[in-house]
Amino acid sequence: MRLIITFLIICLLGCSAKEKMIDTNNDGQKLYYEKCNGCHRLYNKTEYEPKKWKEIMHVMKKKSHLTDDEERMIIKYLTE
Ligand code: HEC
Repeated sequence: MRLIITFLIICLLGCSAKEKMIDTNNDGQKLYYEKCNGCHRLYNKTEYEPKKWKEIMHVMKKKSHLTDDEERMIIKYLTE
């Protein structure tokens, strides 16, 4: 019984740590893959200069109905 509980705790910790890593580190990337893939291919982040990405995102934000936060996270991912 003890063993099972220990196992469950380790699993919970492991899973939540993984969850958190995705949320904090890859939010922009995750959003990019989720939101920008519906109408055209996913452009490579190296295809445009950071300045151009900001202009494009201004337009695509409206097309994808992003919030300001989502826009910021995607720009961060695309321009870093
Ligand atoms: C509702 C459909 C739609 C969604 C969602 C969408 N796009 Fe687009 N996107 C378009 C269309 C249509 C074009 C090409 C025509 C134009 O430039 O308006 C385009 C063009 C582009 C281009 C090329 C622009 C250029 O000047 O070469 C990029 C880069 C791009 N989109 C990025 C994104 C990103 C990043 C997202 C997610 C935030 C996104 N798109 C979401 C419809 C969409």
